[in-house]
Amino acid sequence: MNISITTGNILESTTDAIVLNLFEGVTEPGGATGAANRALNGLISDLIAGGDFSGKRNQTAVLYPRQGVASPRLILVGLGKREAFTTNQVRLASASATREAIKLGAKTLASIIHGGGIGGLDVSDAAQATIEGAILGNYKFTNYKTNNNNPKHLDTFTLVEFDTSKQTDVEKGANTGQIIAESVCFARDLGNTPGNDLPPATLAERALEMARETGLSCEIFDEQRITNEGMGALSAVGQGSARPPRFVILEHPGADPNAAPIIFIGKGITFDTGGISLKGGDGMWDMKFDMSGSAAVIGTMRAVAKLDLPHRVIGLVAAAENMPDGLAYRPGDILHPLGTKTVEIHSTDAEGRLALIDAIAYSARYEPKAVIDLATLTGACVTALGNEASGLMGNDNDLIAQIHEAGNRTGEIAWHLPILDGHRNRIKSNVADLKNSGGRPAGALTAAAFLEAYVQNFPWAHLDIAGTASTKSTKPDTPIGATGVGVRLLIDYLRHQSVT
Ligand code: BES
Ligand code: MN
Ligand code: ZN
Repeated sequence: MNISITTGNILESTTDAIVLNLFEGVTEPGGATGAANRALNGLISDLIAGGDFSGKRNQTAVLYPRQGVASPRLILVGLGKREAFTTNQVRLASASATREAIKLGAKTLASIIHGGGIGGLDVSDAAQATIEGAILGNYKFTNYKTNNNNPKHLDTFTLVEFDTSKQTDVEKGANTGQIIAESVCFARDLGNTPGNDLPPATLAERALEMARETGLSCEIFDEQRITNEGMGALSAVGQGSARPPRFVILEHPGADPNAAPIIFIGKGITFDTGGISLKGGDGMWDMKFDMSGSAAVIGTMRAVAKLDLPHRVIGLVAAAENMPDGLAYRPGDILHPLGTKTVEIHSTDAEGRLALIDAIAYSARYEPKAVIDLATLTGACVTALGNEASGLMGNDNDLIAQIHEAGNRTGEIAWHLPILDGHRNRIKSNVADLKNSGGRPAGALTAAAFLEAYVQNFPWAHLDIAGTASTKSTKPDTPIGATGVGVRLLIDYLRHQSVT
């Protein structure tokens, strides 16, 4: 979708539709909506008075103005209650209006910046969120639909601001929003791609292509190199697949390439059958989403590069396919990961934590400022938090608080759960240092305790995105399938970090 920004009067826009908004409970609209109401002889007041439109969150109404508005359609979108108004709501309202326009068959859409004027938000933030909503609301994964080569979507989205003095801020915010939202879509595409077409080597290739486009540096370890590096856990997970594992290192130097980096680690299990501890067949197809942590990391690195953030940021992807075959690793095996602690395998289905510990141990050499891993790690986390929030665990209260706040700002809620000594005790092994499963109780937390055992002296946080990485219901800014969760959160987190 093309994004354009213009200064002027939206009522003069000749796009297929224009978007205006209303706060819940307002009966006499102001701003651009008020101007439209006057141009339409009180049509919008009538709509409100008639009770057909109250401005509730994401509510839409369509008007067909005969005069006074150049566009054939006027879409009104509700912003909800003014007291509860945030940039999150801007994104959702913009996505709702976009979906409505697409449903009507519109190809070009112009919108005001929700919250930029009357809403009282920072105009750059409001522009960013309006653009994010339009791009995310326009997202559809149609790569595999043979008879759908012309899916309904917008070709052009135009942001219209009346006040010329805001132009620079609007452009800055819109550009940021476009980069972030397109990076979320990139992560969604990776997540939605099925296992047959996205083995570890292909996932790594996608990261490399992206790196070439954006100027990131990218190094890929093949299976031999993974073994040589001593990553005994990642290589064990991958050894049961005919399609070997990969380890990817993406780096953005930032303003100071020698600064202590912030490191993001993604679980990249391109398909999780459970291995010898085979999963039941029901719903197993969703295990194509088991690389969503790495999709978030690759998408985030794309945005980091395109935004040219001043921070030094490194993305690590631990990619493998968890399959049962004659060479697969087995329960009872004892592994030698890169970290110094040996692991006894109790379940080959607890493979994500194995892929991650080699990446966590690898990150120590960078003497990082912070390490954040993202993983569709446990069904237990879905049981605890459902699809509403990611689990957030870690060893550093400041880091946890910062991620929690980024989650609240972006709407990608991350909820802190504790790692307690009892959880640590549950993963002790009789024959090795640790075992890879602590059983059913507190499964999200014993998994986190396992990761923690490979963290050396750096602030570390873990996001369990098992419940948030994919969705079975449509939200205004998220269709069914991969959500791209993590990209917006991590970028927001970074943008709130000082550089030194
Ligand atoms: N990829 C799964 C976790 C998962 C489950 C993600 C449901 C998304 C939805 C992970 O590798 C796994 O199988 N975890 C096991 C761990 C257990 C064997 C200790 C689980 O959660 O059952
Ligand atoms: Mn598994
Ligand atoms: Zn898994």
